[in-house]
Amino acid sequence: MTEKDFIPKSYPVTVEQGEVTWQSPSNIALVKYWGKLEHQIPANPSISFTLNSCRTTTKLKFQKKQKPAADFDFRLFFEGDEKDAFRPKILKFMQRVEPYLPFLKDYEFTIETSNSFPHSSGIASSASGMSALALCLMSLERQLDPEMDEEYFTRKSSFLARLGSGSACRSIEGELVVWGMHNNIYRSSDLYGVPFRDEVHDNFRNYRDTILLVDKDEKQVSSTLGHDLMNDHPYAETRFRQAHDNLDKLKKIFRSGDLSEFIKVVESEALTLHAMMMTSQPYFLLMKPNTLAIINKIFRFREETGLHLCFTLDAGANVHLLFPEKEAQETLEFIEAELKQFCQNGQYINDRVGSGAKKLA
Ligand code: DP6
Repeated sequence: MTEKDFIPKSYPVTVEQGEVTWQSPSNIALVKYWGKLEHQIPANPSISFTLNSCRTTTKLKFQKKQKPAADFDFRLFFEGDEKDAFRPKILKFMQRVEPYLPFLKDYEFTIETSNSFPHSSGIASSASGMSALALCLMSLERQLDPEMDEEYFTRKSSFLARLGSGSACRSIEGELVVWGMHNNIYRSSDLYGVPFRDEVHDNFRNYRDTILLVDKDEKQVSSTLGHDLMNDHPYAETRFRQAHDNLDKLKKIFRSGDLSEFIKVVESEALTLHAMMMTSQPYFLLMKPNTLAIINKIFRFREETGLHLCFTLDAGANVHLLFPEKEAQETLEFIEAELKQFCQNGQYINDRVGSGAKKLA
């Protein structure tokens, strides 16, 4: 599919008003998206586990205007309160997706959104938030065009979510989603996420992600600025090539179930992401002392137990702990006894791989 396929010709049905609710999960990248071109096109392909419990729920209410107006018309409520601070982000999103959803200015919208994870936990809500909103708008478009097939609905939802926030396009489906053109991944695209359809070993079923909340402050570097830093980065080209290679490696690992090799790729990706930030101009150090303390504890735990706990990081200090279901009991005991102390207010979230967004009745 190309961008043109997402521009609708006309709508056979008129819809006056209604509401729709979607619940969309967060995701955690194994091969990281860091660096982008114009129009939210990624500089390299990425792959993520879709999460299960960390979710955004968004209700979209819509009412057709008497006369179409020149402006977008929406009100935004976050956890019950009107939130003007989020308006610019949503407005930008609406502007970007309007060519693909030409009905946007014909409606008054109310967007009511809430997160399952604690407010300002430092967990990025843009992936779950933007994907939930994209799905709500697609549900309205499907009412306007009832013949729309499921495949188109899903691909376009991911396409629109990407225009809101790149990583959001990986939050529509589960359990592993690839975004970005890769020669050896069937149907991969820069425009939207696609489920990873190759063989996946049982070792990766129900994989766990426990998120350690090390630093709950606002992000030091916005992801937009972070991605921009890759434009003149001295190591950019090598890094982008490495992401392609790491996806090839993961493809083999998913088939074989080799957890030791999985750890090598995933931890190296996390550290490379941070290395890119440490070696850009200006440079950023986003890990905190507790991030490093946790990482060292993980290394020691692996050495002592032979278990397969590993970490990954986003553009911040929080640590995602990835581990197989069958090692969950011992690993969770270790987290409670040894790692909890490094979390702000002892807070962490137990999550696992999930199957994607759900429409609520
Ligand atoms: C480090 O998707 O937040 O989490 O497209 O500018 O909204 P924008 O960026 P965003 O970047 C996420 C970067 C990352 C890695 C990843 O999720 O792949």
